[in-house]
Amino acid sequence: MVVERYVDVRSRVPPRQCGIDRPGSGLPGAIAGSQGGARVSTTTPADPRWPAPQDVPVGLRGGTGPDSILRLLEAAISARVRWLVALHGDGRQQNPIDEYKTRLVVTARTAVASGSDVVSLELRAPDWSDLAPWYPGAHIDLYLPSGRIRQYSLWGDPADRRCYRIAVRRIADGTGGSNEVHDELPVGALVGVRGPRNAFGFVEPGRSTRAERVHFVAGGIGITPILPMVREAERTGLNWTLVYVGRERRTLPFLDELTRLGDRVTIRTDDEYGALPTADDLLPPNVRSGDAIYCCGPVPMMDLIAARVRNEPGVELHAERFSAAPVVDGQPFRIRLARTGQIIDVAADQTALDAVLRAEPGTPYSCRQGFCGTCTAHVSDGDIDHRDNLLTQDERDAGTMLLCVSRAHSPYLTVTT
Ligand code: FES
Repeated sequence: MVVERYVDVRSRVPPRQCGIDRPGSGLPGAIAGSQGGARVSTTTPADPRWPAPQDVPVGLRGGTGPDSILRLLEAAISARVRWLVALHGDGRQQNPIDEYKTRLVVTARTAVASGSDVVSLELRAPDWSDLAPWYPGAHIDLYLPSGRIRQYSLWGDPADRRCYRIAVRRIADGTGGSNEVHDELPVGALVGVRGPRNAFGFVEPGRSTRAERVHFVAGGIGITPILPMVREAERTGLNWTLVYVGRERRTLPFLDELTRLGDRVTIRTDDEYGALPTADDLLPPNVRSGDAIYCCGPVPMMDLIAARVRNEPGVELHAERFSAAPVVDGQPFRIRLARTGQIIDVAADQTALDAVLRAEPGTPYSCRQGFCGTCTAHVSDGDIDHRDNLLTQDERDAGTMLLCVSRAHSPYLTVTT
């Protein structure tokens, strides 16, 4: 197991000199040293330009009280400095993630599966204060320094308010988010975070649900939202089971912790079984009314489970996908980009977002499932086929569209991204 850990040095240096206690001081540059394998922050001198001194020196003419001439000078200089700052800015580079409300620092990186490319990040507030609470199944939006936005489930302990933990598998040929997390977020890096939010909440049997037992199914990195649920089920003495699947046993994250939970956990990997799992492999042998199924993993696995339990009366299915569901009942249409006039064809089995990304690769998006709102666009002409559960009627009436899921009833849409 490879661990890089950030060391809290606040007790060793005066707070105002420690980069971690100074929001906006550029933490990536502040975390520079390495002592005994632990990375520590270096001190940063106070900004010499601002603010102007608060304490005026005593009199220059031999008196012991504040000097009136110096007071006048201080007031005049402060006013001049404020005016120049307002006019020209303070000369510091604006970090693109500064606009977001929560900025967290990467305080540890850990490899969580031997031989695989899964890294776990620990994120804390720069002043190490408590973070917003969360519950099993929650995720955060991670705003990367490049401007990419990606969503990652929280796998840590909800009772530990000091940090969030996410785990990211490298997708070498993906859209770049996982590579950036792996290659460009060292300990000390600063990221923006929104959330936590929960679209996959765990409802314990006995609380707002008639379920009597819980079955979890996780595929590979899909274990991340499931893991806190499993811990909660175990902690509260629920009747639960887990099937955890993947290509190779050695690449499954968090395997050590899960195997310690005994025969409630079934590990099923393709290299040991020689074939992909069927629905019967993924589900308990006697799925019945009163079961709650929680699953997270690749689309084919989720489709297998949904097809198997969809018509079972009294069975709850709670699912979170890695990626967008396939387009259902899609008709081809065209998008006219309002800014450039470019015409884009959207195929029957293609999302509008994918079509627009071909022409404008910088178009923002995140969840691809119609619940985060990142891909919002404005439609000035055409009839939108809204397929999200996020927008209000007023927003729809105003021509707002989510490109990742919604389509067109008309042959054309004129869109501003
Ligand atoms: S990308 Fe999240 S709603 Fe479209």
